[in-house]
Amino acid sequence: MSGRVSAEPQPFVFPHRHLLGIEGLSRDDIALLLDLAESYIALNRRAEKKLDVLRGRTLINMFFESSTRTRTSFELAGKRLGADVINMSTSSSSIKKGETLIDTALTLNAMQPDVLVVRHPDSGAVRLLSNHVECAIINGGDGSHEHPTQALLDALVIRRHRGRLAGLLIAICGDIMHSRVARSNIHLLTIMGARVRLVAPPTLLPAAIERMGVEVHHDMHRGLADADIVMMLRLQTERMQGSFVPSAREYFHFYGLTYEKLAVAKPDALIMHPGPMNRGVEIDSVVADDITRSVILEQVELGVAVRQACLEVLARNLPGIGHNR
Ligand code: NCD
Repeated sequence: MSGRVSAEPQPFVFPHRHLLGIEGLSRDDIALLLDLAESYIALNRRAEKKLDVLRGRTLINMFFESSTRTRTSFELAGKRLGADVINMSTSSSSIKKGETLIDTALTLNAMQPDVLVVRHPDSGAVRLLSNHVECAIINGGDGSHEHPTQALLDALVIRRHRGRLAGLLIAICGDIMHSRVARSNIHLLTIMGARVRLVAPPTLLPAAIERMGVEVHHDMHRGLADADIVMMLRLQTERMQGSFVPSAREYFHFYGLTYEKLAVAKPDALIMHPGPMNRGVEIDSVVADDITRSVILEQVELGVAVRQACLEVLARNLPGIGHNR
């Protein structure tokens, strides 16, 4: 059962009922989640992966937008901690019959789940729900607002490779405008003392984004110069109304990550992408598959550990389970 430092509850305090975003978390909150996630990595590599931290608890995944890795990752995280996990998607929910989001949430809440993981196409929808339920809520991605567990898993990957986050130069490139991954990463990385550069065409940058404490570049060669980490984002055409880029081909020419553009970054710069990737649009296939530089699959692996940590800290704050009450 071990693989953790100790099977006993760790003496920690996570002073939040929900995980709605990275904004509002402190450095200590983030470090606590990353340290705890670290302890799950070894466990997840063993043949026997189960703990009973969430035994008797119920986790419901409510996904109103399609997802492969995030939903599977939360499901595995919940099951490996011993919870009962239910997956609900829009296609099978009463939303299809005209029920409102809040009514769906109230219905599920009446079944006494302990944690709801919610993904929704509208920014702010997950916070809205959190005002109507008693269980803990984790934001699995809301519109172009936040995707906190993605930023945490990205940070965990970076920290494992570089030993720290503070002082690193991280270039986030591509469709910043529509990206909740970018927003959560900007919050997390700036809170932890990293330097963040955004690299995108002006059409894919939100107005006044510099106010988030980032540098902005429109040219990949300048934006990637000396970067420790190059984080690519998917061109999110499903969120675009109208035309933001002339064509996928032209976008690749100016903003697609190739070895030629990567050459100005640090020689050992890591390549990241939250997935799903558009090969040949935001990233050249050979770069994405370069196992000496790309940590894209490690991001997926560590995502499970991060979600286990998030589930554990929130569950410990629920009545009747942890030492915090
Ligand atoms: C991201 C998302 O859904 O926000 N993917 C993910 O969670 N791994 C990014 C994306 O869809 O491009």
